Amino acid sequence: MNEPMLGQRRIAVFGAGYIGLVTGACFAKLGHDVVVRDIQKERVELLRSGGVPIHEDGLAPLIAENAGRLTFTLDAEEAVRNADVVYVCVDTPSTPSGDADLSRIWQVIETLRDARHLAAVVVKSTVPVGTGARVRAAMDRAGLRHVGYASNPEFTAEGHAVRDFMHPDRVVIGADDPETAKLVAQLHEGVDGPIAEMDVRSAEMVKLAANALLATKISFTNEIATICEATGADVEHVVRAVGLDHRLGPHFMRPGVGWGGSCFPKDSRALRALAGNAGYSFQLLTSVIEVNDLQPRRAIQRLKDELGGAFHNRTVALLGVAFKPGTDDVREAPSTIIASRLLSEGAAVRCWDPLVRRLDTAPWSSTTRCTTPLEAMTGADAAIIVTEWPELQDVAWDQAAALMARPLVFDGRNLLDPQRMASLGLTYMSVGRTTVRGSA
Ligand code: UDX
Repeated sequence: MNEPMLGQRRIAVFGAGYIGLVTGACFAKLGHDVVVRDIQKERVELLRSGGVPIHEDGLAPLIAENAGRLTFTLDAEEAVRNADVVYVCVDTPSTPSGDADLSRIWQVIETLRDARHLAAVVVKSTVPVGTGARVRAAMDRAGLRHVGYASNPEFTAEGHAVRDFMHPDRVVIGADDPETAKLVAQLHEGVDGPIAEMDVRSAEMVKLAANALLATKISFTNEIATICEATGADVEHVVRAVGLDHRLGPHFMRPGVGWGGSCFPKDSRALRALAGNAGYSFQLLTSVIEVNDLQPRRAIQRLKDELGGAFHNRTVALLGVAFKPGTDDVREAPSTIIASRLLSEGAAVRCWDPLVRRLDTAPWSSTTRCTTPLEAMTGADAAIIVTEWPELQDVAWDQAAALMARPLVFDGRNLLDPQRMASLGLTYMSVGRTTVRGSA
């Protein structure tokens, strides 16, 4: 490994997506000189002109405040030329087999062929266990044996990624030599959280295992919710009391129409594929994924039953498109399944979301975009809450009841109070709770 300089570092971050931008901006805040490289011209131009292509709480001011130490480029060589450390934050989408597509990682590694001056290459992208060893071998073949390699998986959740980066539960550093581990730890000086050091393979596994366990907790809760519906128990009481057990904790036990986003679906498939490739059938995780696939479909079925068995000639207001509140991200959002199921059953869909900007691809291109929840619900036979946007708590639901063709709300996130909704004259369905019928 090249001799590290003390203190401030020059970091080239590859990938200006959710992870790369947050990583770059936070490292700049920590005092490092950062250049973020992306292959999308529009994105780089926007960033250069002071814009931010994604919505992430606190990110735009962070980029603006640290503009003196944060630049953006399309040119990979320029990014690497003056860097001490390369951070790989490119995306690793699912291939048809469920494995992670590592082609973007390899493209980055390819550009490092002549980068003999580097101290280390760090992969933050989520990758299958064993990827680091393959990258290490490729670097060795390219004459970069002296350049350190580390895995530094990210655990930031969208919507509070900046906070998660600066105040993490842990910083996982997997490196096969202590100097590289030390260097990556030094980059995080100023970050408020413990460092967990380990070998590269274990670090790669931590990320996959953590996401799989979180997804398991949610799918487990959703199964319990289904049994609550069948037995008349109230999942909210159950979850609250179960979560008071300090061995279990209350987190990631909110029932709903399922988990989505850029991580859980892709990473759970990747871990299942990783196990399968090794000849092991990860049955528990397979069930966790299956439960999640069914969750939005069950919601649609319940709503359909309530509407008398058909969506044909019905209008449904779909409230919330993003995969969770606080983000404009629709990747693998349950809303996409719900919208396309409704459309294929013959319903007209009027959707509302406060942050998601562009909805021009299928199924969204066949829906009507509305600017307020009340507008979406006007004339609708039912409304379905898919994302628990806080704005929905403030809707004048009595007005909604009056504007709807039929005052029926399916709350797919258990955001609202059943008794209150019933008192306002609405039929209110939710997840793992008894349906209540308007009494106004
Ligand atoms: C997740 C992990 O939390 C993060 O550590 C990792 O780095 C990336 O993946 P993120 O995808 O941003 O982060 O969202 P998160 O808040 O974890 O929610 C994931 C999904 O689970 C969302 O669709 C959310 O609605 C759903 N969810 C979450 C539930 O349905 N119930 C819960 O109790 C919690």
